Amino acid sequence: MMRKKTSTEGSNTPHHKAAADALVIFGVTGDLVHKMVFPALYSMIKSGVLRIPVVGVAGSLWTVGQLRKQATHSIKQAGKIDDRKAFDRLLSQLQYVGGDYHDPETFKALKRALGSARHPAYYLAIPPALFPTVIENLGAAGLADQARVIVEKPFGRDLMSARTLNRVAQSVFPEDAIFRIDHYLGKEAIMNLLYFRFANLFFEPIWNRNFIASVQITLAEDFGVKSRGAFYESAGCLRDVIQNHLFQVVALLAMEPPAYQGLGAVHSEKAKVFQAMRPLRIGDVVRGQYAGYRQEIGVAKRSDVETYCALRLFIDSWRWAGVPWYLRSGKCLATTATEVLVEFKRPPQSLFDDGPSSRDRANYLRFRLSPASAVALAARIKRPGKQFVGDQRELYLLEEMAGSEAPYERLLGDALAGDGTLFTREDAVEAAWAVVDPVLKRPRPAQPYKRGSWGPKEADALIAADGGWCNPRLIDASAV
Ligand code: BG6
Repeated sequence: MMRKKTSTEGSNTPHHKAAADALVIFGVTGDLVHKMVFPALYSMIKSGVLRIPVVGVAGSLWTVGQLRKQATHSIKQAGKIDDRKAFDRLLSQLQYVGGDYHDPETFKALKRALGSARHPAYYLAIPPALFPTVIENLGAAGLADQARVIVEKPFGRDLMSARTLNRVAQSVFPEDAIFRIDHYLGKEAIMNLLYFRFANLFFEPIWNRNFIASVQITLAEDFGVKSRGAFYESAGCLRDVIQNHLFQVVALLAMEPPAYQGLGAVHSEKAKVFQAMRPLRIGDVVRGQYAGYRQEIGVAKRSDVETYCALRLFIDSWRWAGVPWYLRSGKCLATTATEVLVEFKRPPQSLFDDGPSSRDRANYLRFRLSPASAVALAARIKRPGKQFVGDQRELYLLEEMAGSEAPYERLLGDALAGDGTLFTREDAVEAAWAVVDPVLKRPRPAQPYKRGSWGPKEADALIAADGGWCNPRLIDASAV
């Protein structure tokens, strides 16, 4: 965790400091809560992070008994119940309020359920279209004072809607009481990017356009949209994972060193990266759609929504001028893995007889972000023999992730404690939308691609000048 600077940031107002004394989950009967949030709450109870009432809110007229049943099912599905006492405690801390989010009565009922709680945290795990309604009704019911709101992604669907949403949220909550979730920021491997860069001095002199030729980031998934067809139709790959998750990875890799030890400094440096990104042009983006997507439940028969997206990005800053950043993500690809490849420039002269080995990649640094976390540094080493020829080999730093907190556990715990380090700030979110906005408006048609492939071949042309895509591969010593 970053050390905090308290005096200069002006962000330690009472609502910010006080630990939350109730957690309210809007959309408690939904998919996200079932898959991610109940298991996270259970872990938080086990580790002693969650000792406050949890009030679930949703449109259905459920009883608290039904909610407990749902929580039990969710926790069992995610693993086993290995701490009966903690599990019982979680169930006993649950309450339920059912009602229409448009109806002020729902918020009166919520007020009653909150009882004496003074610093509730409202977690909006609901469709984005409902964010403004819920936020405004919280304000109108007098429930927002000294409280905080945790907003799930997607935060807006373009620049204009993100601005509107920010305005609505800020008309009810101060900025430092708004916690915008990007679960990538709660992943250990992603936090390690920040740590690795700024805890090791030796990279700093070469971490710039003078030594780095290009950077590529791949977020590949070997599965389709599953039951989320309807949601996906409203989003597409660029909105779903690139504008947020992958842009956050870019920001951590590209940001300047924070000027002081504090979360405000990290947020500001990240925002500057988004501000320095050149708005995308149509020719910088390739969209794809996997075969059979249009037959998925909830998907339009003639849908042009992209399930794959590749793009070329430039950051027009002193450090990164001229360095291309290639990002791609897709569903139904050949594997499930997320990886960053930072490729260095070649030595200015070839002194040796490697000949065709110049077709190899130049030296690179590979960050494996998932499924496991690892770093590989590739360097050339001479083969034994009379000739001066060699091979590129990888040095590995492998990290055992056992026992690490899952992203939702980490982020909800931080939000309840009032720590906004791993959340996104208004200016950064808007600047990131400004980069993708031009290509959201008039996209080129999505190209079909086969399931289990690496996406449409048109994406290869984007990166041809920089050695092509490097598909993620296992990092382990035997793979050398
Ligand atoms: C979510 C997207 O935000 O991130 C999903 O909505 C995607 O479509 C997921 O599969 C990827 O996250 P993770 O943690 O599974 O890599």
